[in-house]
Amino acid sequence: MPYAHITGWGMFVPEPVLTNDDIAKMVDTNDEWIRDRTGIRQRHIARENEFPSTLAVEASIKALQVANLAPTELDLIICASSSPEYIFPATACLIQDQIGATKAGAFDLSAACSGFIYATNMAAQAIRSGSIKNALVIGTETLSRFVNWKDRNTCILFGDGAGAFVIQASERPGGILSAVMHSDGSGADSLTLLGGGARYPATEASVHEGKHFIQMDGKEVFRFATRVMGRATQESLELAGLTTNDVQWIVPHQANYRIIETAAKYLKMPLDKYIINVDRYGNTSTASIPIATVEALEKGQIKSGDKVVFVGFGAGLTWGAMTVEWTGPIPAKRHVYPKRYRLFARLRSLLLRAVRLIEGFLSRREL
Ligand code: ACO
Repeated sequence: MPYAHITGWGMFVPEPVLTNDDIAKMVDTNDEWIRDRTGIRQRHIARENEFPSTLAVEASIKALQVANLAPTELDLIICASSSPEYIFPATACLIQDQIGATKAGAFDLSAACSGFIYATNMAAQAIRSGSIKNALVIGTETLSRFVNWKDRNTCILFGDGAGAFVIQASERPGGILSAVMHSDGSGADSLTLLGGGARYPATEASVHEGKHFIQMDGKEVFRFATRVMGRATQESLELAGLTTNDVQWIVPHQANYRIIETAAKYLKMPLDKYIINVDRYGNTSTASIPIATVEALEKGQIKSGDKVVFVGFGAGLTWGAMTVEWTGPIPAKRHVYPKRYRLFARLRSLLLRAVRLIEGFLSRREL
């Protein structure tokens, strides 16, 4: 049975930064309150012409570059997002088209902030079953579009960004060792974005009632998160036959510094084993774990051979954890340039659209 290795990683955040002081100009809050209660100092916010697919494509190209893998070699793309571009088509398909992943299947996965762990596990399982060799997993968000900028309970928390992993089959032991995924729909009301779905399609009333904004019972989510983070980490480690003593790094979902602190206490692990960057990005939902991982790799914190645990929670309610033995890119003689495929992808997309147009025109004439 092949092993599933994380061989490439990339992140991208939009340039504009929104500080706590900026938010204090919009709602009744202040920098000190936000830092004390959440650990957040600033977050990045997408420009008007940036969308989940825009951010995801940048992160994906970087991940393919690290893996030294051509997009045409991808068999599968899974995009996890809490703020997908549309209900359908899937954001994953928009990414597939823009990076030129000509033979990949593509779909979106919805598990809120736990989505990246779920998606990585799904890709790893497909690789371990032998049905595919190369997968791209993405977490991408422009949650700023769904935040009520008049609600101080939620608008301080979220930020935009994207992160991506390339996952590949290899006979070399290691890579993704174990994963656990959990859910509890009885807590569905704690964190919601109700508008735009089948129960509350967009109407004047749904907009007026604020149904298209994130709504959250912060205290309830806080209690749930601190309850499950430590337990899920332990479960995933047990499944991998490891203990907390074997672990070099924990990469938690970056929602709130205090939640991470409580999880560390539960596991009796020092906080310096936790990768934390919530101060600079806020909660980027599905993108938070890959963004934190990429930063840790670029700083030289996570190294080959390290045992790393990803752990997250989110709306649903959902939560999960994954244990990885870090390996890195598969050595190869040939050098590929995934960035160059973008031009080819654009031309291919235009050509396919033109062919579709001509086919439509000709079939109308035949009728
Ligand atoms: N600035 C100033 N005061 C505020 C603010 C603010 N931004 N927000 C709330 N307050 C006030 C409240 O109105 C309240 O005042 P009151 O006592 O007069 O009523 C007081 O501060 C305390 O409010 P609490 O809600 O009790 O504050 P708490 O300590 O619980 O912190 C927070 C709130 C930061 C939201 C916290 O509950 C939290 O982080 N929860 C988890 C949220 C989370 O992680 N969500 C993402 C989940 S992942 C996903 O799937 C998207």
